[in-house]
Amino acid sequence: MAGPLQLEELKRGRRMLIAPSLLSADALDVAGSIEKLEGEADWLHIDVMDGHFVPNLAYGPAIVKALRKRYPEAFLDVHIMAEPAEDFLDMFLAAGPSLLSVHVEAAKHIHRVLQKIKDAGVLAGAALNPGTPAALVYPVLHMADLVLVMSVNPGYGGQSFIPETLGKVRELRARREELGLGYVIEMDGGVNVKNAPEICEAGCDAAVAGNAVFGQPDPAEVIRKMRSSLG
Ligand code: DX5
Ligand code: ZN
Repeated sequence: MAGPLQLEELKRGRRMLIAPSLLSADALDVAGSIEKLEGEADWLHIDVMDGHFVPNLAYGPAIVKALRKRYPEAFLDVHIMAEPAEDFLDMFLAAGPSLLSVHVEAAKHIHRVLQKIKDAGVLAGAALNPGTPAALVYPVLHMADLVLVMSVNPGYGGQSFIPETLGKVRELRARREELGLGYVIEMDGGVNVKNAPEICEAGCDAAVAGNAVFGQPDPAEVIRKMRSSLG
């Protein structure tokens, strides 16, 4: 079960972990994009899209497997935007992720889904769309290692941050304290160097950044800037 100790361990002394999203990597040279991070990334975020739950197609289990093979020590943060979530678990669990996040809106049985991920020895995350209340994950918070708060409507990189979603982060942080739990709160969508301090201040432990990182000629420098902006 996620607890405060596990949270500390995952954060490794960082104020906020930074997870570049490979959705914005060079589609013809993902390894080249990863090299440009110069080891600055805390996690690598991999988006899975089914063209049904979200209006786009992206990454399957093969890339997770290939990343695991090439980077045995990397923290692979896999975000499944596919429905029904239940149908995608086995193939992704077998690919070697560190963490698997599944949308509560895409699973009929989120409790069973999280349990299955945990039983496989993988960290389990529950994800929320911008229009979904935080309360939807309340019944499973005790078993979640992470709650992913979408700050754009899922489907594409490079969209604008929806500031109202910060309220959900504050709510989840307060509830975590109240219950003595240790889930990581991760924000995903529209994160950049400018808004990172506010996101961290609201209580995020991890932030995904795609376009802000890979859209620049020096992605490693963007991460360093983001990190130093947090104080
Ligand atoms: C959106 C994805 C995000 C996306 C973030 O559906 O879940 O992970 O890659 O990209 P940016 O940082 O460009 O908004
Ligand atoms: Zn994502």
